[in-house]
Amino acid sequence: MSVVADSAALPADSTDMVSVRAVHKVFGHGHDAVHVLKGVDLDVARGEVTVILGPSGSGKSTLLRCINELEEITGGTVVVGGDLMGYRQDAKGTLHRLHPKAVAKQRSRIGMVFQRFHLFPHMTALENVMEAPVQVRGLSKKAAKQRALELIERVGLSDRMDHYPAQLSGGQQQRVAIARALAMDPELMLFDEPTSALDPELVGEVLSVMQDLARSGMTMIVVTHEIGFAREVADHVVFMDDGVIVESGPPAEVLDTPKEERTRNFLSHVL
Ligand SMILES: Nc1ncnc2c1ncn2[C@@H]1O[C@H](COP(=O)(O)OP(=O)(O)O)[C@@H](O)[C@H]1O
Ligand SMILES: [Mg+2]
Repeated sequence: MSVVADSAALPADSTDMVSVRAVHKVFGHGHDAVHVLKGVDLDVARGEVTVILGPSGSGKSTLLRCINELEEITGGTVVVGGDLMGYRQDAKGTLHRLHPKAVAKQRSRIGMVFQRFHLFPHMTALENVMEAPVQVRGLSKKAAKQRALELIERVGLSDRMDHYPAQLSGGQQQRVAIARALAMDPELMLFDEPTSALDPELVGEVLSVMQDLARSGMTMIVVTHEIGFAREVADHVVFMDDGVIVESGPPAEVLDTPKEERTRNFLSHVL
């Protein structure tokens, strides 16, 4: 499979923040090839929240990783904020792989929060949030600190800003991770099971920060098994299975009156 698309394949609709078209992802080659994404189409409008549900191994993490270019796609196109991710299209419509520096620049507009928090252990909460703006953007320490203080406050951790990750609960660490992602002023935030590693009593504080973020107008794609969050916060719910989107729609539709047997079956296990 090759990543060759003509200009007609590129969506022109700029109201969408994210436009995923016919995306395939194959890991490995020959007999060892694993076809993980099998032609995924997904649109997320600016300011909207899409929740992705689906069983383990269905390709949810791979899809997020393809959207922010942690993985190179095998076929199709990903457009974020009007930018074709990873490629430049010439006048004839042929796609050329972008230089890693250009890819890094595209990626810096997308924030990602993982199941595990990945904070720098030797830095305080505040220093973790200041790091990327100073190192990647060349912001002055003073300006970065000012912004980091605002973000730490926004996630409710002003009284913990000088603590090291090991001195924080999982929920607090995840809130720092969210503040750290926001410090780069992303246009889009991706969350990959952000509460799955947390003790049950810590899940709510993280979901509540995410809900506030959604209310503020952030465009978000959230992989989660938290059906309550999907119902309350999502504009769209997408159900994925075996590398394809099985069905999608407003939360009430997908969660309460799913059309597909596979969706019903999945929901009967998580609800
Ligand atoms: N780097 C990789 N190499 C080979 N297979 C992979 C790789 N990453 C993921 N996969 C496979 O892709 C499938 C989907 O994985 P993933 O996207 O993590 O699913 P989910 O997040 O829905 O649980 C799984 O079968 C997984 O083993
Ligand atoms: Mg996953």
